[in-house]
Amino acid sequence: MNLNCHLIFSLYTIYGILSKVMASKGKVRGASGQHPLVQNVTVTEGGTANLTCRVEYNDNTSLQWSNPAQQTLFFGDKKALRDNRIELVRASWSELTISISDVTLSDEGMYTCSLFTMPVRTAKAYLTVLGVPERPEIDGLTKPAKEGDYITLTCMTQGSKPAADLRWFRNEKEVKGAKEVNASGKTFTVRSSLQLHVDRNDDGVAYTCRVDHVALAQAPQQATEVLEVHYAPHVEIIHSPAVPQEGQYLKLECVSKGNPSPDPVMWTKDGTDLPDLDRVIVEGRELTFTSLNKTDNGTYRCDATNHLGTSSAQYVLYVYDDPTTLPPSTTPPSHPIPPDPTALLGSHVSDPTVTGSRDPNALGQHSTDHALIGGVVAVVVFVTLCLIIVLGRYLARHKGTYLTNEAKGADDAPDADTAIINAEGNHAHAEEKKEYFI
Ligand SMILES: *[C@@H]1O[C@H](CO)[C@@H](O)[C@H](O)[C@H]1NC(C)=O
Ligand SMILES: *[C@@H]1O[C@H](CO)[C@@H](O)[C@H](O)[C@H]1NC(C)=O
Ligand SMILES: *[C@@H]1O[C@H](CO)[C@@H](O)[C@H](O)[C@H]1NC(C)=O
Ligand SMILES: *[C@@H]1O[C@H](CO)[C@@H](O)[C@H](O)[C@H]1NC(C)=O
Ligand SMILES: *[C@@H]1O[C@H](CO)[C@@H](O)[C@H](O)[C@H]1NC(C)=O
Ligand SMILES: *[C@@H]1O[C@H](CO)[C@@H](O)[C@H](O)[C@H]1NC(C)=O
Repeated sequence: MNLNCHLIFSLYTIYGILSKVMASKGKVRGASGQHPLVQNVTVTEGGTANLTCRVEYNDNTSLQWSNPAQQTLFFGDKKALRDNRIELVRASWSELTISISDVTLSDEGMYTCSLFTMPVRTAKAYLTVLGVPERPEIDGLTKPAKEGDYITLTCMTQGSKPAADLRWFRNEKEVKGAKEVNASGKTFTVRSSLQLHVDRNDDGVAYTCRVDHVALAQAPQQATEVLEVHYAPHVEIIHSPAVPQEGQYLKLECVSKGNPSPDPVMWTKDGTDLPDLDRVIVEGRELTFTSLNKTDNGTYRCDATNHLGTSSAQYVLYVYDDPTTLPPSTTPPSHPIPPDPTALLGSHVSDPTVTGSRDPNALGQHSTDHALIGGVVAVVVFVTLCLIIVLGRYLARHKGTYLTNEAKGADDAPDADTAIINAEGNHAHAEEKKEYFI
């Protein structure tokens, strides 16, 4: 038994060694390893492509590269085609590498490596040439544009392969364009258009068209245009202090926006030139009263003009009494319409329209200041009422009936407030307002 086992083991060992030897011999001589191996190559237009053909086992059989037109480029280390761009990189029994420099789109195609065994074995490598998109160009910009214009910006890039992608950015923020791709020969012409309805907010805005392409992985190409939008002026008057008082100073600033910038602005009082007084200084957009006098009462207006239009704003000046003597005007005047909430905020009088038409808000100027004072009175009244309510609740703990009585008083509070405001009217002011309406 022991002997038999040894014999079988030995036979297995011999068989193993023999089969290994046979296998290695087969590989050297046999066809299995003697086969050219290639890889597809992608190169950017203008670049250099290396075409490599390898054979794992070779008995000195020659290798050859040929181009898509079946012309032989290199046969072993022998150059076969006259083309300065094609050079030998390496030629050995196991490898044939050639390079094609300054690659053009026409170099694209299927290249063949042949191993001249019997029969000939071949391997095919596809050379892909990427078309580099040209620098994009933006068209369709009218400079300057007018507010309200419709503009179609068109960005175009030629020569990309595969087709490039175009993206638009409005001040770095991406916006959607309409893309159109046309093939021209082997490359593509890509256009993207952007429709804009321009307004003043577009003035100075940069529109960028960016080309994204595989051949530009590191440095995307882009073009930028900055819009210039002309628009009619818009003026507003900012005044300080909020309550103009006799003897004090007052500054009116005519804040005008427009492109081209409306310069200078023009000040008038009650439709005529400003009175020529030492106390009144006009400096650029500012009108300053160094010391207010009641004779300064009136409607001040500032006009700004550019070639697209005119805008004006008004400020109705009402000079309050000297702060040292408590004026009767610390309470607001009667007002036919409820005061504009913006007027209550101390907002300036402004005319948003291009024409010089008067803004009804302008009439709220007196009442604005009165309303401020009225507001203070109202707060005092309100606090008093609150105290009464608190007192009422306190008393209600002892007598339930007080609660209802005081609650009624609280309900009347807003009416009482309004009543005070309305009651403080002054006929002279009402007449002034009528004048402004005319
Ligand atoms: C091509 O081969 C040469 C030599 O080996 C090398 O210097 C070059 O970088 C290669 N070019 C490419 C594009 O692979
Ligand atoms: C290939 O040829 C060279 C001489 O040209 C020779 O020295 C070498 O032994 C040959 N190799 C094989 C595997 O036949
Ligand atoms: C090489 O490119 C050809 C043609 O584009 C394609 O058919 C083939 O599958 C590619 N081969 C490899 C290994 O990518
Ligand atoms: C693309 O093709 C369309 C239709 O063939 C044509 O109307 C258009 O002008 C072309 N555009 C470009 C960029 O060539
Ligand atoms: C206001 O002007 C009048 C006339 O010009 C003058 O008499 C008066 O003193 C001035 N009032 C103040 C407070 O300056
Ligand atoms: C100006 O307004 C004040 C209110 O403070 C009034 O007393 C004065 O008479 C007005 N003066 C003119 C000239 O209208």
